[in-house]
Amino acid sequence: HRDLTGLAGLAPWELLFLLDEAEQWVELNRQPQKRSEKLAGLTIINAFFENSTRTLLSFEIAGKRLGADVVNMLVAQSSVKKGETLIDTAMTLNAMHADAMVIRHQSSGAVRLIADKVDCPVLNAGDGQHEHPTQGLLDALTIRNFMTERGAKGDFGGLTVTICGDILHSRVARSNVHCLTTLGADVRVCAPPALMPAEVDAMKVTPFHDFDAALKGADVVMMLRLQQERMSGQFIPSPREYRHLYGLTLDRLAKAKPDALIMHPGPMNRGVEIDSNVADLAGRSAITSQVEMGVAIRMACLDVLTRRTRKVEGWA
Ligand code: CP
Repeated sequence: HRDLTGLAGLAPWELLFLLDEAEQWVELNRQPQKRSEKLAGLTIINAFFENSTRTLLSFEIAGKRLGADVVNMLVAQSSVKKGETLIDTAMTLNAMHADAMVIRHQSSGAVRLIADKVDCPVLNAGDGQHEHPTQGLLDALTIRNFMTERGAKGDFGGLTVTICGDILHSRVARSNVHCLTTLGADVRVCAPPALMPAEVDAMKVTPFHDFDAALKGADVVMMLRLQQERMSGQFIPSPREYRHLYGLTLDRLAKAKPDALIMHPGPMNRGVEIDSNVADLAGRSAITSQVEMGVAIRMACLDVLTRRTRKVEGWA
């Protein structure tokens, strides 16, 4: 079976294929009767070992809009709390003959471990600081749609994307970097020194510690929150100092291109990494559009990854 555990290593055509597949679902999701029966008869299990609002709900909605039966394993009420291991949990779910599993886990690599053990496609809904592939795809779809709405070509070449925040702990940053650099965009990453990953030199990006410099001429500004839950002793400024150095304020936004797109994967810490008047800036903020595109991308991924099971030709 083919899995979606990360965007690293995917070819440009594979990324574009998934974005193109999602377009049909963007349209369907805007209709009053938002339903297809493409995945009727299939069972999808969502197992989230870490908290989520957007990813969990949009995977559930995506599966249901395609006619699948979707069940959510509630980790807090599960036998994980009685000491069952990750592998035993995965083998238990596998024995229920799910047709796809969507897994979020706090440890990098945990989703690949499960994918190698089970008999159905596995989709990574975020593993530690490793990857969050559907977030990378939904962000690329959001950028492409805004570009085409503004009359530009939906081409990532020549586009400058600045990603600012806790790059060290961010699976969102890593998936976006893989996706956007593969599609030809120039990506800048900006973080305080303690939150810049050591492997940045191998990431095909331009690193910055000075946010004003990183913003200069940017077409897209993507803000990330400080992931306190993954910190282990790094020195980080106080929220007030952090906003002063790395917060996206209206004044600072003016350093980017005049129509630069504002993005944030959520959840946001308003007044820390992004001010409310920036997050809610009409015509410029893509934050709710990112959520909308998330459902379409997850529908596309569930459809494409279950094509082998359904004996339908396709990417998988
Ligand atoms: N962007 C994102 O992954 O949000 P959730 O943690 O709410 O799923």
